[in-house]
Amino acid sequence: MLVLGVETSCDETGVALVRDGRFLAEALASQTDIHAVFGGVVPEIASREHQRMLPILFREVLAKADVAAADIDAVAVARGPGLLGSLLVGMSFAKGLCLATGAAIIGVDHLHAHLLAPGLEAELRFPALGLLVSGGHTHIYRMQSPTEFTLLGRTLDDAAGEAFDKVAKLLNLPYPGGRYLDDLSQGVEPDTAMFPLAYVHNDNLDFSFSGLKTAVAERLAKRPHLAYPAMHEADSLAAGGALALSAHGEELALLAASFNWAVAETLRIKVERALDRESGVVALVVAGGVAANSHVRATMTQVAVSRGLAACLPRPALCTDNAAMIAHAGSLACAAGYRHGLDLESIPRGRAVPRDWVRA
Ligand code: KG4
Ligand code: ZN
Repeated sequence: MLVLGVETSCDETGVALVRDGRFLAEALASQTDIHAVFGGVVPEIASREHQRMLPILFREVLAKADVAAADIDAVAVARGPGLLGSLLVGMSFAKGLCLATGAAIIGVDHLHAHLLAPGLEAELRFPALGLLVSGGHTHIYRMQSPTEFTLLGRTLDDAAGEAFDKVAKLLNLPYPGGRYLDDLSQGVEPDTAMFPLAYVHNDNLDFSFSGLKTAVAERLAKRPHLAYPAMHEADSLAAGGALALSAHGEELALLAASFNWAVAETLRIKVERALDRESGVVALVVAGGVAANSHVRATMTQVAVSRGLAACLPRPALCTDNAAMIAHAGSLACAAGYRHGLDLESIPRGRAVPRDWVRA
């Protein structure tokens, strides 16, 4: 079965092809540089870029895989959560293609797709505990099967990636800044007392990262010399320039390492708590953009190993938004016998994605 994945939830436009569960080809266009000028994603610009790029990328992916549009059996489309205008561009493209070719349509939950992404590299085992850490979400799920997810915990305010991006912004690093904070902290021993571990002294599985961001902001208010002077540094970084350390580089690296540690440690505490509670779990899956973070990867791999669980962390390129994960999740849903109709709706951020597919 040949499945095309379409991803337009935020600022990456992607299409990918998967045949019988195996990756064939992908074409991906990042809008990061366009939005970086504004310090965050501008929804209207994102929609227009998706609209402009989708036909180009579609032709590219067909050529890469040496297949024709008529060969596609099903179109898997990211239906949300995300920016509604952006999602609608992908949804319209998917529906148009299905109408023209007779392919089936299957809507995919973007967050579930992130967590299923490691299955593109190695067989995923179930039941698994899934930690989804992205720019907009921090969720813990019980993954009973590729199509049965139960949400156990979520962030009450900022997502982990949002905390990274906001702290990076305070330092005048380019958007999205998570990876620069990761780079800055390499090889530096964190000060574990520098920042508080927020919202861990309770018995739930929810997160709150806004207090950590405020703690960094308060520290920086007293140490303004730690921030990069202005956006010209940011421009050179965005253009691929090296991260030049200032005279206060060591202090900045210590702050970055301590912040990274506080995020990874908070995630560890809640994941260990969830693992203590959930029975029969055989794997720990960590996915989403922040799963590319070296500290989060090391901490979570250690948790899995210490409990005898399979550690399933996709390689960094599969952690951030991509269409291969959408095609893969759609393939798994199709293989389980599910389909949607052409009345399929896109779901904006803040609304739960309904489980409204039907047995084919
Ligand atoms: O999953 P993703 O690509 O998009 C969403 O669906 O949100 O995640 C993007 C997030 C951004 O907040 C970005 O700063 C963060 O992932 N990120 C990282 C790293 N690489 C990407 N955060 C920390 N360390 C990294 N190495
Ligand atoms: Zn995502």
